[in-house]
Amino acid sequence: MAELIDGKMISTLIKDECKEKVAEYKKQGISICLAVIQVGNDPASSVYVNNKKKACAYIGIDSLSYELPEETTQEELLALIEELNQKKEVNGILVQLPVPKHIDEKTIINAISPKKDVDGFHPQSVGSLCIGQPGFVSCTPAGIIELLKRTNVDISGKHCVVIGRSNIVGKPMALLMLRENATVTVTHSKTKNLKEITKQADILIVAIGKPKFVNSSYVKDGAVVIDVGIHRNEDNKLCGDVDFESVKTIASAITPVPGGVGPMTIAMLMKNCVDSVSLQQEN
Ligand code: GUN
Repeated sequence: MAELIDGKMISTLIKDECKEKVAEYKKQGISICLAVIQVGNDPASSVYVNNKKKACAYIGIDSLSYELPEETTQEELLALIEELNQKKEVNGILVQLPVPKHIDEKTIINAISPKKDVDGFHPQSVGSLCIGQPGFVSCTPAGIIELLKRTNVDISGKHCVVIGRSNIVGKPMALLMLRENATVTVTHSKTKNLKEITKQADILIVAIGKPKFVNSSYVKDGAVVIDVGIHRNEDNKLCGDVDFESVKTIASAITPVPGGVGPMTIAMLMKNCVDSVSLQQEN
């Protein structure tokens, strides 16, 4: 039976480490501030934004909250981002996605200063990750690396298969695993013989966006399985992209949903906010 990878516990550890760092900074007269912008009132986004603000409060990071109406124009949003880019007291800027349809997501992401891009979505952040330069890393894949390292999963030399190639998870995940010296295969919707490939994985990272898609027939005996998905099933219960009950019988370690990858995203956002101080000092 697979070992459970406890994301709730590990995310709490990381948040507590951040809290200590913030307290040290405070003693040196340095405070950290995250600006969180939400356009419109998508209920799921509101939940995420509130959780981010709560995490800031827990850790001792100041948060500035901008709740803008759905009708906000792209120009108005860009003007706010520029104002926050210029503000010395603001260390991190986060625009909750998705933005309303009349606003171009790419333009918004590109407008955030790479020095304040705590989501790690800016092309400069992604490029820095690609060539091994300092910069912010997208929170969910960064959190997965922490989960693996803190449960003593060896990455170097292992075959890692990633299912999914999104800009936020799949692509940065592949780059991070490569940085950790894994041999990496990225699969996606056009991949042929998916099962044959996933069955070769020592570490299988599933971000396919389909409930319970991966069952034990996709998994090699003893593989480590990381489930990035989060869905609500017919009974209103949460489940992932992995059929947990099936895969736990064959994997050596597995993340549950909830309580696996999910809590890591906010913990890593907090870590990025803390790290922003030293990144901003390097000029
Ligand atoms: N929407 C869903 N996930 C995220 C995230 O990690 N950051 C932002 N800004 N928006 C999101």
